[in-house]
Amino acid sequence: MAFDVEALREDFPYLKQKKTGKTIAYLDNAATTQKPLTVIEVISDYYSQANANPHRGGNALVAEATEKYENARKRVAKFIGARQDEIIFTKNATESLNLVARMAGKPGERVLLSQMEHHSNIVPWQLAGARLEFVELDEEMKIDLQDAKEKLAKGQSHVFSFAHASNVLGCVNDAQKLCRMARDEGALSCVDAAQSVPHMKVDVAEIGCDFLAFSGHKMLGPDGLGVLYIRREIAQALAPVFGGGGAIEKVGWKKSSLAKPPHKFEPGTQNSAGAIGLSAAMDYLEKVGWKNIGKHSGEDCFFQCGESACA
Ligand SMILES: Cc1ncc(COP(=O)(O)O)c(C=O)c1O
Repeated sequence: MAFDVEALREDFPYLKQKKTGKTIAYLDNAATTQKPLTVIEVISDYYSQANANPHRGGNALVAEATEKYENARKRVAKFIGARQDEIIFTKNATESLNLVARMAGKPGERVLLSQMEHHSNIVPWQLAGARLEFVELDEEMKIDLQDAKEKLAKGQSHVFSFAHASNVLGCVNDAQKLCRMARDEGALSCVDAAQSVPHMKVDVAEIGCDFLAFSGHKMLGPDGLGVLYIRREIAQALAPVFGGGGAIEKVGWKKSSLAKPPHKFEPGTQNSAGAIGLSAAMDYLEKVGWKNIGKHSGEDCFFQCGESACA
């Protein structure tokens, strides 16, 4: 697709408004993005034509909504190189990180973060009672690989959780190297990809992380829909934080058995319209193309994509 900013602006109803008689220059995308019409329409179509409660019932309407919801999960999995059962829908990146802190963090255990973390990757660990240590930044304001290596080499970190791209500095960390270092030292790795997934091709298999979190609303998708990737081999053994309808195989008065991942992590009625909206946002981003997105971000903003990420 040819990259024509003026043509792309036409896809966004918000940007076509003339507030105070002037064209809108919207520069707050790190906080949240505007939505293309295709995303707005797919959500509206779902509510007007296919709304039912996925996985809750055996009638044809539920079957249709379930198919749409699970197709959205398949779309998200493909977008980040994951397997379908590794995608958990949450409320946002913050909720995803809180779930990781509760499921993987244990009170008193050492958790390594970096000095560039967003509050959403600090506070959940504090609430989980982790013993926190912070990796320093290097001269380029990226996570210092040597310091990470040394801090991980102490061998006592249970989890290493870090931002792939910083919301403040705009730089992109070498997630693949950092996750490998964590694995080599017996620590679980968690990548906060809230600012990277909207800008560059992110592939969880390539990165080799155990967890990865992001938000739909920062990547042209709807509010209230986030994603948590959990590597299949880990998901089986993790105890969910919340339980309820839709997340169990069998329920009993005293004891219940849990459903298999991803459903055991998704109790209660889910934001199915949000998941469907996010998959439309992913279609839109891929249609624009990572090369175009990377080039535009690199040239016109301070966000710097790595060459391989934008290829
Ligand atoms: C790096 C990073 N992580 C996490 C978050 C939290 O995202 P959300 O508010 O969508 O949960 C943000 C939001 O700005 C962010 O920039």
